[in-house]
Amino acid sequence: MPAEERPAGTVRVRGPFRPRGALVVRPPGDKSITHRAYLLALLSSGRSTLLGPLVSDDTSRTLSLVEGLGAGTRWVEGGVEIAGVGLGRLRTAPGRRLSTSFYLGNSGTTARLALGLLSPLRGREFYLDGDESLCRRPMERVVDPLREMGAEVSYLGEPGRLPLMVRGRELAGGSFTIAVASAQVRSALLIAGLVGGVGVAVSLPSPVRDHLERLMAFLGLPVEVEEGTVELSRVDEVPPLNLPIVGDLSAAAFWLALGCTRPELLPLRIVGVGLNPTRLGMVEALISAGAEVELLPEEEWGGEPVGEIRLQAPPQEPIRVGPGEVPRLVDELPLLALVGAVGRGMELCGAGELRVKESDRLAGTREVLACFGIGVELAEDGWQVEGGQRPRAGECMGLSDHRLVMLALAAALTAEGESRVGGVEWLSVSYPQLLRELVLLGAEVEPAG
Ligand code: S3P
Repeated sequence: MPAEERPAGTVRVRGPFRPRGALVVRPPGDKSITHRAYLLALLSSGRSTLLGPLVSDDTSRTLSLVEGLGAGTRWVEGGVEIAGVGLGRLRTAPGRRLSTSFYLGNSGTTARLALGLLSPLRGREFYLDGDESLCRRPMERVVDPLREMGAEVSYLGEPGRLPLMVRGRELAGGSFTIAVASAQVRSALLIAGLVGGVGVAVSLPSPVRDHLERLMAFLGLPVEVEEGTVELSRVDEVPPLNLPIVGDLSAAAFWLALGCTRPELLPLRIVGVGLNPTRLGMVEALISAGAEVELLPEEEWGGEPVGEIRLQAPPQEPIRVGPGEVPRLVDELPLLALVGAVGRGMELCGAGELRVKESDRLAGTREVLACFGIGVELAEDGWQVEGGQRPRAGECMGLSDHRLVMLALAAALTAEGESRVGGVEWLSVSYPQLLRELVLLGAEVEPAG
């Protein structure tokens, strides 16, 4: 694995951000797609080449999992080559060791997808553990339907949480209606069906990111999507994947938020970014609130539209987000609260899921913004933010959630004067190069002693 940029500790930020020239940014590879591409590459019996994957703590957990199951990986110019094990061998080979442990750090996506991947591997035992945050996050949403398929999962600590043990078993196919609109759950069940050699259908209450489904269709696998239900029939062979990975919209969200709170930066161009409609919730919320945003699709990479987002003017009205939209912008909501505070306000409801992310992001958003003098009124499943608030320079320490660190940085770069933001090492979870990019673009950000 190449050397990662790993910022550590606390930074001093002098705001407001005044870039050296016109702002053109290229976000790193998409995190959700990187996880899924690594897993499909493992299941293929050929050699896959993935260009521009996200190299981060979270995605390296999935890569280690794939290596632990026997895939060969090699870093090449611009990406990674993965020599897959193949579905047939993975299904039947007992593996070098009958019992394997995987430490999954902070990565919820790795944990949930791994449950689907490992449950059908007969004759093997797996122990999954993670950091403090991951061990607090709910796993029943995946484990319960997997158990209906015949999976054997034992919680080793608190029920419904990591650490846990999976004993591989033969699974039966089935149709599942899941109450929570989670892409991770749907992907986990589809992967269980794929590896187990059985058909699976999954229905969710509202649209979620569909990256796995697009990759499967791109590879010619028998996946069908119809009105909220995704169905995968039995598969015996996964072809290798050769594709570049589109830029991450959730990383792009940082720049969109900065562009909205500092209109002096506009026009802002974000290039090489994924434009998958199931991820465009933030852009749509901004447009509905009167922002001027242009979407310029250019090509498709692995079934994913990619192109440019051009932000010309910030929202002119309050931002409103309701339950049906939440899954399409769930990771961007903290940043949208800042945009609303500086702009014309924000109203969010139906976002109880934010309480079970890497941290409680409803409470966390209020705490971070309070450090910069911004008020947020919390509800059980959302918030109300008054518009016309001006962030003051402040100190925001003790964070351990990458998305909240990004929020604190965006607030500090919007405020006038010197702020301090702690916990920037957590950026390595999803956007390790963010601080370096900010500095290159002219932001005054430096380590604080
Ligand atoms: C993800 C799905 C979302 C998102 C997470 C990544 C994925 O979680 O918050 O950062 O890659 O499937 P849920 O599926 O729990 O909504």
